[in-house]
Amino acid sequence: MIEVRDVKKWIQNGTRRVEILKGISLSIPAGQFVAIVGASGSGKSTLLGLLAGLDTPSSGEIWLDGTPIHNLEETELAAVRGRKIGFVFQSYQLIATLTALENVLLPYELNMEGSGLAQARRLLDAVGLGERMEHYPVQLSGGEQQRVALARAFVVEPPIVMADEPTGNLDSANGRLVLDLLLERNSHAGATLVLVTHDAEIASRADRRIVLKDGMVVEDSLPSVAEPVVAAGAEPRANG
Ligand SMILES: Nc1ncnc2c1ncn2[C@@H]1O[C@H](COP(=O)(O)OP(=O)(O)O)[C@@H](O)[C@H]1O
Ligand SMILES: [Mg+2]
Repeated sequence: MIEVRDVKKWIQNGTRRVEILKGISLSIPAGQFVAIVGASGSGKSTLLGLLAGLDTPSSGEIWLDGTPIHNLEETELAAVRGRKIGFVFQSYQLIATLTALENVLLPYELNMEGSGLAQARRLLDAVGLGERMEHYPVQLSGGEQQRVALARAFVVEPPIVMADEPTGNLDSANGRLVLDLLLERNSHAGATLVLVTHDAEIASRADRRIVLKDGMVVEDSLPSVAEPVVAAGAEPRANG
């Protein structure tokens, strides 16, 4: 579903080349919930932006669903991104001059045929904002704005949802609500979920945890709490 092959990202700073990602390879199967963790500055947001086609790698390849996106022109990239990926930012990134409903409708109108009105209303209801559809972002709390952003990310029913510290600006109750809605998108709708997080508890709920350090993958594993526990002395059991 998502294939990353020896991806590097560097910034040319005068005569100096600053390497932000130093050769990342990974493969994320459809439906997996992956947490990307690591210290601030380790390259998490840069990697997620490349996976989402928001930015292009300096070298290497990125394939989404069999489509190579590493060398697409912006127009083509926008089309792939628009249909395949729902992206959630830490800072919501709603359009201030549009109502909640209009914010949610926007990706639908840009990427799909027909009216998305019923779908947008249904999703706003599902995130608990049925009574706030005509509100502008400034009239909503941070938690409410992030729930609008979730409805917007889900409106085209993308096969992949990506989120960069989506609970980072929220209190714990709102953070939990947003996380539950993301997890539901993974477990019920079957969307692949790639989540950048600082939160060890969130990471422990993922199918897989990828640790970045200085632009490299230093660990890629199932979270320890999800490892199968085998009782001492138990016979290995055959599958099925
Ligand atoms: N456009 C840029 N120009 C220069 N340096 C950048 C740029 N974007 C990111 N960086 C640097 O790359 C490193 C990784 O950044 P980032 O991907 O945002 O890390 P994280 O999300 O893990 O905190 C940081 O040291 C950051 O300062
Ligand atoms: Mg970041």
